[in-house]
Amino acid sequence: MDVVIIGAGAAGLMCAIEAAKLGKQVQVLEHASKLGGKILISGGGRCNFTNTGASSDQYVSANPHFSKSALSRYPAARFIELVKTHGIPFHEKKLGQLFCDGSAQSIVDMLENEAKQAGVRIGLGRSILGITRRKLPQKKDTFHIETSQGTIESHALVIATGGLSLPKLGATAFGYDVARQFQIACTGLDPALDGFVFGEHEMKSFGGLSGVSIDVIATTQDGHSFRENILFTHTGLSGPASLQASLHWHPGEAVEINLVPGIQLAEMLMSKKKSGAQTLVKNVLSEFLPSRFAEKFCSSRIPSIDGTLTMQEMTDAGLTRLAHDAHAWRWIPSRTVGYSKAEVTRGGVDTNELSSKTMESKKVPGLYFVGEVVDVTGWLGGYNFQWAWASGWAAGQAIGQGT
Ligand code: FDA
Repeated sequence: MDVVIIGAGAAGLMCAIEAAKLGKQVQVLEHASKLGGKILISGGGRCNFTNTGASSDQYVSANPHFSKSALSRYPAARFIELVKTHGIPFHEKKLGQLFCDGSAQSIVDMLENEAKQAGVRIGLGRSILGITRRKLPQKKDTFHIETSQGTIESHALVIATGGLSLPKLGATAFGYDVARQFQIACTGLDPALDGFVFGEHEMKSFGGLSGVSIDVIATTQDGHSFRENILFTHTGLSGPASLQASLHWHPGEAVEINLVPGIQLAEMLMSKKKSGAQTLVKNVLSEFLPSRFAEKFCSSRIPSIDGTLTMQEMTDAGLTRLAHDAHAWRWIPSRTVGYSKAEVTRGGVDTNELSSKTMESKKVPGLYFVGEVVDVTGWLGGYNFQWAWASGWAAGQAIGQGT
């Protein structure tokens, strides 16, 4: 076999298709019983398969330049072209995010058809028991991949086993273990694009708001801001703004949430007070925020409020402080929810170990890492699939063109 690819997800399949189209014999090995498990559940079942604005700016990595080469050689437009060729209807939801009109299954079917046409062999339900690399005098080095159904030899080996999120769907630490086996460094790993869990104080104040959603700007300590919704859960915050912020958040850091973006709340509160209205403070806040949240927010900011304080009873300084807090609700999450819910793993195989053009290991010729297993993690919004397609494509091209 010319190449064995472990993992039949987005990156592995793209790599397989490209290498096979260039004439290589390709075997994909997947331990799950079906292809593209994460593609199928992605984007709420409609797969947000790319983002028209994808560039290295929307990725987190110890080396922010690493993703540039693959993303520029295989941009979103190339994948969109493929989707169009297969007649799959799609639409832009917002912010360049492209989703299938129908089921994500159409993306998996497209990849499976492309792979079949190119002559890729796909082995499902295969457990990988071990990998060894043999150096033979006067010959190319070979990888020996021991599987539950026999040993396969190949000249190139591609690790496309993804990250740690959703273990129930087949995620494993396999890729990181292979890296370590070959003395290839990995960065720290964290669940990301994940919800936040409240600390004790926030839990007491906001624990009962499950289902409440607010359009906010969430900002992390390193200055990344996202204008999207937050969604209260039983234990913390979810929703796109929280998920985006989690990618840039580290334990112990605060997040700051502008609950009333685009509004001059202090001025509005003052003018209400001046108008002489006897309205309750929480009711005035409810004009700008969901009432369930407004009430809890008032009592958390002004503990003496018994729920009946009127605008006239508030001092100007008290109103200014309340407005300031609504524009900058700052708190420290106790953690993120974890790999059971996180969409991705931040971190992975150290990019210093890989060629950015081919994804091949600098230490171990013939060994490639593609997709989420690499330390390149995208924002929410189709960026992670775009990285999977682009890195898989780059490795597939390099393998296909190799001798
Ligand atoms: P991926 O995880 O897709 O594939 C890895 C494959 O390797 C899997 O098939 C797995 O079973 C297999 N494998 C693992 N260990 C193995 C082993 N030991 N032996 C053999 N096989 C093994 N991104 C995006 O851009 N748009 C979106 O809409 C979404 N939505 C989304 C929703 C949810 C709920 C999650 C969890 C994630 C997303 N993502 C997303 C992220 C996206 O799914 C993810 O980044 C890509 O699938 C990564 O592609 P890979 O091919 O690298 O890994």
